[in-house]
Amino acid sequence: MRQAGRSLPEYREARADTEMLEACRTPDLVTEITLQPVRRHGVDAAIFFSDIVVPLAAVGVDLEIKAGVGPVIAQPVRSRADLDRLPELTPDLVPYITEAVQQLVGELGATPLIGFAGAPFTLASYLVEGGPSKNHEHTKALMYGDPQLWNDLCARLAQISGAFLDVQAAAGASAVQLFDSWVGALPRADYERFVQPHSAAALAAVEARGIPTIHFGVGTGELLPAMGAAGADVVGVDYRVSLTDAISRLGDRYAVQGNLDPALLFAPWEPLAAKVRSIVAEGKTAPGHIFNLGHGVLPTTDPGVLTRVVELVHEVSQR
Ligand code: CP3
Repeated sequence: MRQAGRSLPEYREARADTEMLEACRTPDLVTEITLQPVRRHGVDAAIFFSDIVVPLAAVGVDLEIKAGVGPVIAQPVRSRADLDRLPELTPDLVPYITEAVQQLVGELGATPLIGFAGAPFTLASYLVEGGPSKNHEHTKALMYGDPQLWNDLCARLAQISGAFLDVQAAAGASAVQLFDSWVGALPRADYERFVQPHSAAALAAVEARGIPTIHFGVGTGELLPAMGAAGADVVGVDYRVSLTDAISRLGDRYAVQGNLDPALLFAPWEPLAAKVRSIVAEGKTAPGHIFNLGHGVLPTTDPGVLTRVVELVHEVSQR
């Protein structure tokens, strides 16, 4: 999840003199930051340190990742002319990603590396709104007002997103995750009409690699089966829906990922441990389960609690 490292003093130290996007383009730093939670917590997989807007910056979008805010775009994309200025992503535009993944795969040994990208809707929301948005009003105005431009924009973003996933897969990532963080803002019929084909295209870009794909969104309880049907092997579940409900909505075709509420990491150990145990037990009824948080780690989380949660998950899931 995003911000995982922010609760670690060693992350803050590594990042002290380096701006976020610059850090993402520095393979030695990417390697160090990606390894930090593996070293400290003993998690079973590493998530690549990057950001969903890295490929947008790589194709020339003028943007910044502001601390405490998120990605901010200098010139929002709202017209055909704006779209025409958004080129496709080719691997030569992100040599630092290939280098960082290759280096990491070597250092991680048997521990798998999970690569990722942002899904077309979430990327479009940042581009169209110009930054983080609560209501996605400009995005929806474009989607409903000019479906042709919306589809062309999302087709371009699917290419960018799919190519970004494929660069990581080609360099040795063991699995990839497609984050559609903000798509929970749409009802299912609109998801299926305006978004699903584009997310499917992004996931299809790595199909030939034969690696597992994970698809995650926030507030997407109503969309879980439709997100699985976009072509994922694993559907990520946020903390608003129990894994039991998610599994009954998904049927037996998908593994699930999730879904401890990151705020519960601030609760006393007993209720927290009880929740961890119940999530592991619920996950056992799915064809597969990746234990994870239901969204990103909050920066003020005590890292010691995270380590303890990892130990408990290992104990109760008997690897
Ligand atoms: O946690 C990790 O280090 C894994 C790598 C990762 C980052 N971003 C690094 C990051 C991942 C998987 C992401 C994905 C991401 N980025 C998503 C999808 C997942 C989700 O959380 O829904 C989204 C929506 C973004 C966009 C983004 N980037 C946001 C909203 C923020 C937070 C801004 C803030 O400070 O509150 C970022 C910045 C970001 N991306 C940070 C990290 C480690 C924090 C940078 C810092 O140290 O200040």
